[in-house]
Amino acid sequence: MTMYPIKKIRSDFPILNRIINQHPLTYLDSAAAAQKPNIVIDAQAHYYRNEYAAAHRGIHTLSAESTDQMEIARLHIANFINASREEIVFVKNTTEAINLIANSWGHNFTNYGDNIILTEMEHHSNIVPWQILAKNRKIILNYIPLTSSGTLDISSLSKLINHRTQLLSISHISNVLGTINPLIEIINIVKKKSDALILVDGAQGIAHQPVDVQKLDCDFYIFSGHKIYGPSGIGVMYGKKKLLQKMPPWIVGGGIVQNVSLIQDTTFIESPWKFESGSPNVGGIVGLDKAIAYVKTIGIDKIYAHEDQLIHYATNILQKIPGLILYGPKSMRSSIIAFNIGTHHSYDVGILLNQYGIAIRTGHHCAIPTMNYFKVPGMCRASFAMYTNKEDIDRLAHGLTKVQCLLNQQ
Ligand code: ALA
Repeated sequence: MTMYPIKKIRSDFPILNRIINQHPLTYLDSAAAAQKPNIVIDAQAHYYRNEYAAAHRGIHTLSAESTDQMEIARLHIANFINASREEIVFVKNTTEAINLIANSWGHNFTNYGDNIILTEMEHHSNIVPWQILAKNRKIILNYIPLTSSGTLDISSLSKLINHRTQLLSISHISNVLGTINPLIEIINIVKKKSDALILVDGAQGIAHQPVDVQKLDCDFYIFSGHKIYGPSGIGVMYGKKKLLQKMPPWIVGGGIVQNVSLIQDTTFIESPWKFESGSPNVGGIVGLDKAIAYVKTIGIDKIYAHEDQLIHYATNILQKIPGLILYGPKSMRSSIIAFNIGTHHSYDVGILLNQYGIAIRTGHHCAIPTMNYFKVPGMCRASFAMYTNKEDIDRLAHGLTKVQCLLNQQ
């Protein structure tokens, strides 16, 4: 078996050389935003230096090159998740994708008395758009309950499904607890009892697990570029072709019309392009394309295995720190560890860790219902990526021990 090339990987991410507060950067906030390898940074710079123009809007060389770059990237992304290119819609991020689905599909294909199933571990982006839809369309939201071990209570799912269930929208991996949801099992239960659509929020899944939308048989799979080593401001909505064809565009304007008249209704071009009005973020798409190519050269299975080792290593070390409360499941957990030091506020812990160059996320993690379940205002979260190494975790453990002493002196 070949060794995981951690040294080479780390050398590809220039930001990891930063010194923060006189300490080497220990970057443990990849679940919020993963860092970028040179190949992504260079590809974007090259594009803006040499090829930049508006895509899908011109007959000149640069515009044609931009259009080609965009469409080649669409094909590569489709291959990465085993979809076809007509099923890949470029969006800003996961949040925009869910809003698109709620506004386009939701507002046109749900009716009074229908229900949608979510889970209690969702982040706000996978709750709020559905709450607004539920209010407007008078539909009901049901939630698969969370358990104290940080997993979903799947035994409750059957009771939530009936012939009016129109959608299950569920995270692939919890952004707070790191729980890897058993998607195949859950999707099978839903499909046995209803014709509901399945939306998988892959914000935390795409960079850590192999994704095959055919195998999952999901109707939508969505993710943000910045969590898979790509640029911010670009994301992907996969939707089954037939479904996308039925759905009307949501954000409308230039670039997506067949015809506009001042008297008659506007007619739109085909999907996926009908969902991409306005000048597209080609620079972001170019960067995302290269980020996915980079992940493929390392191998998503290898990344998963590396991160899995780190999770076990980190759990073992952190649970030895007295007073440290760990949240989340013991197994089937990916790249994320949430914790608190006694009743100390996560902000205090995060600010003090930053003094040692250690970057974690603190607060409610855009998942207030999860915080409420665990009866805490916030948590500290260390999250890993392909470039995280054992030294990062040792530094975190060491930093936490010092922070704990400082906080307990007060
Ligand atoms: N959902 C992102 C996170 O978990 C922003 O940090």
